Amino acid sequence: MTEERLIDKIIDVSLRRGFICPTAEIYGGSGGFYDYGPLGTLLKQKIIDYWRQNFVLDTDNIFEVSGSLLMPESVFQASGHLDAFDDPLIQCNVCNSMFRTDLLIKEAANISAEGLSIEEQDKLIQEHNVKCPKCKEDLGKSRNFNLMFKTEIGPSGGYAGYLRPETAQNIFINFKRLTAFMRNKLPFGIAQTGYSFRNEISPRNFIIRLRQFEQMEIEMFFDPDAEEASSPFEIAEDLKINFVTHEMQEKGWEKPLSLSLQEVKQQNLVPNDYLLYFFALETEMLIDFGVKQEDFWFRHMLPHETPHYSGGNFDLEVNLSIGHKEIIGNAYRRDYDLKKHSKASNSSFTIAYSDGRKVLPHVVEPSLGVDRILYTVLEKCYRDDDRGWSWFQFPSVIAPLEVAVFPLMKKDGLANLAYEVHRELKNSGYISFYDESGKIGKRYARADEIGIPYCITVDYESLEDSSMTIRDRDSMKQIRIPLEDLDITLGELMDSEVEFEDSEQ
Ligand code: ATP
Ligand code: GLY
Repeated sequence: MTEERLIDKIIDVSLRRGFICPTAEIYGGSGGFYDYGPLGTLLKQKIIDYWRQNFVLDTDNIFEVSGSLLMPESVFQASGHLDAFDDPLIQCNVCNSMFRTDLLIKEAANISAEGLSIEEQDKLIQEHNVKCPKCKEDLGKSRNFNLMFKTEIGPSGGYAGYLRPETAQNIFINFKRLTAFMRNKLPFGIAQTGYSFRNEISPRNFIIRLRQFEQMEIEMFFDPDAEEASSPFEIAEDLKINFVTHEMQEKGWEKPLSLSLQEVKQQNLVPNDYLLYFFALETEMLIDFGVKQEDFWFRHMLPHETPHYSGGNFDLEVNLSIGHKEIIGNAYRRDYDLKKHSKASNSSFTIAYSDGRKVLPHVVEPSLGVDRILYTVLEKCYRDDDRGWSWFQFPSVIAPLEVAVFPLMKKDGLANLAYEVHRELKNSGYISFYDESGKIGKRYARADEIGIPYCITVDYESLEDSSMTIRDRDSMKQIRIPLEDLDITLGELMDSEVEFEDSEQ
């Protein structure tokens, strides 16, 4: 019997426990669209809250905006998306199934064909004898397929609109107003989170490749010639990151290099310090989310994978059970977007200095995919080898529900007291869940399955001395604490300020 794949286990628990389910499931679903249920939504919100706090609010001169999802054709004409936001599409000659050519080549021959011309990709299909994955017959010739969703705006028709394929464009087109808000001073960053849409050729791997997905992006604008362009933010120079250079990829690599940010800088592996700053935040974020550092790295994209205008792209890739996947793209877009929109709209986007110098800012963009990060968290926190049930070892910062409160029995006033405790925890700001049904062991297992870090149980002793037990999900150990200490103790545990066993009075 073949062992169940990890992704299938994740899908199973996601469906059963209210994390994620296919859109229009009762009508057979719709490829590339998923709905987030109550727990999936809480988890997603925690990821976004973390990003907002650490990338946006805690960083000087970065502000968040919220733009339209649907924009007129002129925006995407100017940005280049209409002409070139294409993926190579190949069709089977026999069963007519359609695939993305570069992904087929990657799977069949482990060669990165991203960015190669369709002729070059077809040549690789021939050379490596790649067949249709469904019926094993011959494939036809590739063609370019534009990934944008088109619609019409207004009742009269003829006025084309497109769902945005990235959040970034709203920011570039509002650049003049944003510059005024920032009082014409560089550097500054504009952040945005929200939905993006791509009509992916073959959506797959659950929420890894979707047609509607959520991004968290920052456009960090700076003066490429200014002294401070090299170091506006404090960078944790000793922090180690995993890095894959061009040279390593040319030779074939097995393990990324572990380098401090200072070493990355000294070896000139990245074009500016802004990238280093975001590499540090991204690394810390994934570690905080329970992903081991050995499982992810920054890969310097090869020239053929990089847009012609880019000053360097660095994908954060994760080692998942379904292969190495990009979950964050970091790009040095230079002044490409501002130049394009400035020309097409006949607006000036230059910033004038008091000495008369004028500059068209350059931009560095960390583009984080919420859904891919969320899948990574689900996979890396999933455990099923040590108890009779599966569980998620979510760190508290990411746990959708933070604490559960149970009465040992419903009767004798235990339920009333437990419910009061639950309400008090909610009032103190915890995401608390109350459950009084079923045997207590079952309730612990159910709480583990959705990754609740702590369970509070109100028992007969609680009626006498107002003490209750806290159960630690990870060790399954319990300690007893007085009710009046509950709020503080939980807070310390969740912030990892104390060890669980040391919390007992
Ligand atoms: P891929 O090569 O896998 O198609 P990409 O290089 O097109 O990805 P980017 O354009 O760099 O991805 O987008 C930035 C981020 O947005 C990605 O790192 C990813 O997390 C997210 N993203 C992009 N496309 C999708 C998608 N179809 N479904 C889910 N997330 C996506
Ligand atoms: N804004 C980067 C991307 O979505 O490709």
